[in-house]
Amino acid sequence: MEVGRPKRGDFVFVSAASGAVEQVVGQLAKIAGCYVVGSAGSDEKVNLLKTRFGFDDSFNYKSETNDLAAALRRRLPDGIDIYFDSVGGATLDAASLQMYQGGRVVVCGTISQYNLKEPNGVCNLHCIIPKAVRVEGLNVTGYFNMYARFEEEMAGYLTEGKVAVVEDVVEGIESAPAALVGLFSGRNVGKQLVVLARD
Ligand SMILES: NC(=O)c1ccc[n+]([C@@H]2O[C@H](COP(=O)([O-])OP(=O)(O)OC[C@H]3O[C@@H](n4cnc5c(N)ncnc54)[C@H](OP(=O)(O)O)[C@@H]3O)[C@@H](O)[C@H]2O)c1
Repeated sequence: MEVGRPKRGDFVFVSAASGAVEQVVGQLAKIAGCYVVGSAGSDEKVNLLKTRFGFDDSFNYKSETNDLAAALRRRLPDGIDIYFDSVGGATLDAASLQMYQGGRVVVCGTISQYNLKEPNGVCNLHCIIPKAVRVEGLNVTGYFNMYARFEEEMAGYLTEGKVAVVEDVVEGIESAPAALVGLFSGRNVGKQLVVLARD
């Protein structure tokens, strides 16, 4: 809301869209009146985006690796007003080509890059110049002062059934390393949680 500044009718693209952060982003964008497209790494997740989270469209980026930009053009032919980026690399490059005039790129994460010895270069940033696109990093620690407001709003959405939550729960501290590593191959479906003890 603060960085992407969604307006009714905006076209929004969310990558890694079934994940913990992104499932909330997409649903809040829908509540704000946007048209929301998400990408994810399996057909199960792609289906979840439309059936549970109410995205308008979704696609499996692993089936579109030959031309990610074309996949975005097909689904967002008029351009992207807001790209919420958790992935970086090739996805950011493809989205940069498709940004609309005055668009916003919210850079939340670059998970495709974290384990590379040499991060991929992003080649298409020249496209954002004529379109005056704003690219801004988002760090959650800068927004803790708004947490109480977020909690109140989100509690309302959950109670009213306007926001759905999908969690991927594993049991025990011994499961934590595999759960963490699984984030990098998309093994989690929804927010990854590790239960340490149950009452
Ligand atoms: N800026 C901040 O303050 C802040 C705070 C928390 C998290 N983050 C960032 O937000 C992002 C999401 O975190 P999260 O906790 O919500 O995790 P998450 O989205 O629940 O899990 C990570 C997901 O990333 C996708 N992924 C992994 N490798 C990928 C690749 N090479 N290309 C494309 N997608 C890939 C996988 O989904 P698929 O199956 O769809 O590939 C995986 O399920 C991360 O980049 C994280 O670093 C930022």
